[in-house]
Amino acid sequence: MRLFVLGATGRTGSALVAQGLARGHEITAFGRSAFGGKAKSLHVVVGNPMHANDLAEVLPGNDAVLSALGTRGLGATSVLADGVRATIEAMHCTGVRRLVIVSSSLLDSNIGWFARFISRTFLRHHAQDQRAMEKQVTESNLDWTVLRAPRFNNGAFTGRYVVGVDSEETETSGVPMSREDVACMMLDAAERGNHVKRIVRISGGHV
Ligand SMILES: NC(=O)c1ccc[n+]([C@@H]2O[C@H](COP(=O)([O-])OP(=O)(O)OC[C@H]3O[C@@H](n4cnc5c(N)ncnc54)[C@H](OP(=O)(O)O)[C@@H]3O)[C@@H](O)[C@H]2O)c1
Repeated sequence: MRLFVLGATGRTGSALVAQGLARGHEITAFGRSAFGGKAKSLHVVVGNPMHANDLAEVLPGNDAVLSALGTRGLGATSVLADGVRATIEAMHCTGVRRLVIVSSSLLDSNIGWFARFISRTFLRHHAQDQRAMEKQVTESNLDWTVLRAPRFNNGAFTGRYVVGVDSEETETSGVPMSREDVACMMLDAAERGNHVKRIVRISGGHV
């Protein structure tokens, strides 16, 4: 497949690129700074993910967009909302329909008291941005999949994860997962074409 990765210079994004190449895909790593890596099937493009025109120039011919954009720090941010606005516009212009994007279990209604507390205090700006991003995605007519991921850790790839679709029964916040496994799930969803127009709750798998 031809896969377009947003946030490739980030921690989840770089796992996406590495695993995608290892699976034999052709990858375009798009970002405001150049992805540091070379491979025959890797195209590194520098552009602004907040600008639909930049994206639309290089999007044609891709089978899916995988977005692991995000911000660090706790301040006010609209990176996800602005990024997805540009992404949706560029996808509409170029006819690319498949979008797999990372959100967070902070938006789930069944999170435990501690996760709820931090989603309303320290991480409220993140949660607000994620909510604004999800609204645009779910209201689009793209073939989208939103992954509500739990807390990440820097663990190794296991290839194991648990998926709960359209259900608030799976408490995601309690079982952290590695960014490597989040990347694995995103690639699986792109390859299999499953979970279309679904908010998917994922969590770490058990050995
Ligand atoms: N941490 C957790 O426990 C957790 C849990 C659930 C979900 N998530 C979500 O998972 C996603 C990925 O997380 P991560 O830890 O892999 O992120 P990360 O390492 O911080 O990477 C973020 C990516 O977004 C890009 N980016 C940030 N601000 C940008 C801007 N203004 N313009 C253009 N590009 C920008 C960065 O580019 P540069 O390299 O150029 O800065 C980088 O490629 C985030 O949306 C996060 O909220 C995180």
